Amino acid sequence: MATAEKPLLPPGTKVPAHIGVIMDGNGRWAKKRGLPRKFGHRQGAQTFRTITRHAKKLGVKYFTVYAFSTENWKRPADEVEAIMDLFDKYLDEVRDFIEENIRICFIGDRSMLRPSLQQKMASVEADSRDFTAMTLLIAINYGGRDEIAHSVRVLAEQVKSGRLEPQDITDKMIGENLYTAQLDGDCAPDVDLIIRPSGEQRLSNFMIWQSAYAEFYYTNILWPDFKPADLEKAVIAYSDRNRRFGGV
Ligand code: IPE
Ligand code: IPE
Ligand code: MG
Repeated sequence: MATAEKPLLPPGTKVPAHIGVIMDGNGRWAKKRGLPRKFGHRQGAQTFRTITRHAKKLGVKYFTVYAFSTENWKRPADEVEAIMDLFDKYLDEVRDFIEENIRICFIGDRSMLRPSLQQKMASVEADSRDFTAMTLLIAINYGGRDEIAHSVRVLAEQVKSGRLEPQDITDKMIGENLYTAQLDGDCAPDVDLIIRPSGEQRLSNFMIWQSAYAEFYYTNILWPDFKPADLEKAVIAYSDRNRRFGGV
C-alpha cells in the first residue's frame, strides 16, 4: 500500500514565486579544510545541483543563482580560470535539468566569456525553452548596475531614433529591458526572497533593481554546506513575513 508522502513544508506555507541565491562561502569552506579555493567552488557546484532540484520540488517558479559577478574578475587569474572551467563542465551536466522540465536561462554580459561557453549557454537555452516546471536563471558575469546601464542604453537608442520621448520613460520600461525581462518572450517577476549564506549581509550588486521589495534571509552556513532543509527554513521564514509594499 502506498503511504502518503510527508509534505516538505507545513500546510499553508507561502512559497515565493522567485527566489534569488547568492552562492557565497566556497572559498572559506575550502580554507577551513586546508584545500585550495577551487575545491570549494567544486563543492558549491554540487550544492547548486541539489538545491535547484529542491527549489523545484517546493514549487518555486523562478530560481536565480548568482554564480559570478562583474566584480569577480578582480580575483587571481588562476581562480577565475578554475571557475570558468567549472562552468564549462557544468554546462554539460546542467542538461540533466532539461529532462526534469526545468528551463535554463543566463543573465549577465556574456560577451566577456569564452566563445565555447557562450555557445554552450545558447544551446542550453534553446533546448530548454519550452520547459515549464521552473525557470532557472544563472547569473554569470552579472552585475545589477551593469544590467541597469544595459537597459538605459536600449531606451537611449529608442530616444535617438525618435521612437521614444525622454519624458515618457517610466520605471516599468527600465524594468522591461533588464536581463531578467529578456528571457526570450518571458519576464521573471521581481525577486521575492534573497538568500545569502556565509554570514555576509550585503547584496554585492545582485538584482539591485528587482529586489526593491524583496525579503532577505541570511545564514552563517557556507554555501557548500547548504542543505535542502536550509532552503525549507528560508521559505518558512519568508512565509511568516508581512510584506506591505508601502501600504498599511
Ligand atoms: C562564492 O564563493 C563564489 C563566487 C564568488 C564565484 P566565494 O569564492 O566568494 O567564497 P568566500 O566568500 O571567499 O568564502
Ligand atoms: C557575491 O559574492 C558574488 C557571488 C556569489 C557570485 P562575493 O564573494 O563576490 O561578494 P563580496 O565580495 O563578499 O561582497
Ligand atoms: Mg565571497
